[in-house]
Amino acid sequence: MALPENITPPNHIAIIMDGNGRWAKQRGLPRTAGHAAGAEAFRRIANYCRSIGVRYLTVYAFSTENWKRSAEEVAGIMRLLRRYLEEALRDMEKNRVCFRFFGDLTKLSPELQALCADAESRSQDYDVQVNFCLNYGGRDEIVHGARQFAADVAAGKFRSEDLTEEVFSTYLYSRGVPDPELIIRPSGEQRTSNFLLWQSAYSEYVFMNVLWPDFTPEHLDQAIKEYHRRNRRFGGT
Ligand code: FPP
Repeated sequence: MALPENITPPNHIAIIMDGNGRWAKQRGLPRTAGHAAGAEAFRRIANYCRSIGVRYLTVYAFSTENWKRSAEEVAGIMRLLRRYLEEALRDMEKNRVCFRFFGDLTKLSPELQALCADAESRSQDYDVQVNFCLNYGGRDEIVHGARQFAADVAAGKFRSEDLTEEVFSTYLYSRGVPDPELIIRPSGEQRTSNFLLWQSAYSEYVFMNVLWPDFTPEHLDQAIKEYHRRNRRFGGT
């Protein structure tokens, strides 16, 4: 597994980790087993991203809509996240991976909120920054940002005419993080599902026919090569 030398990976890759449930169903396993295999795929891909020099990796781990799943499934995903973060906090310096969280974390358990706060506060300028989208929705993010901007206007910090795209970006969960050049959705679905609505304005989407637990570094290479084949013009000629 290697990218040809003339291919530089994108600075920021975002992934919708989809297909865990189907992967489990195909094997007659509970959905939670699919998420556990999905968490393994995430580790594999985060390590690979670090090895090829991707600076930011943003993953959709739990959406604002995912609360509709059974209590058992939600608890299973939360357990996996907690376990992962506990290990990541322990090995942070060795792994040189730091963390940010995009989403409304106030709905998560106090333990998970504390882990997220700890991980963010101990994050330094490591090789890779992983952005976990947790209780995240693109529309929710925009509404949340608009509400905060309105509050700042009411408090006299801004005038409404001061709002530009650049200013608004600083009100989003992703403030300070460059937009992703490449967004990958495995599992065969071809939707954006409320992921990074603002940040994806000029992103290249690559949809792939592989379920997330089966996703390997070779699939990532394939997506990066596809991204390079496309001619990115940003609305120009
Ligand atoms: C979508 O697949 C996946 C999720 C809603 C959860 C993603 C969570 C993980 C991979 C575990 C998180 C933990 C870490 C450490 C990253 P789906 O369940 O919608 O699959 P389906 O479409 O086949 O039903």
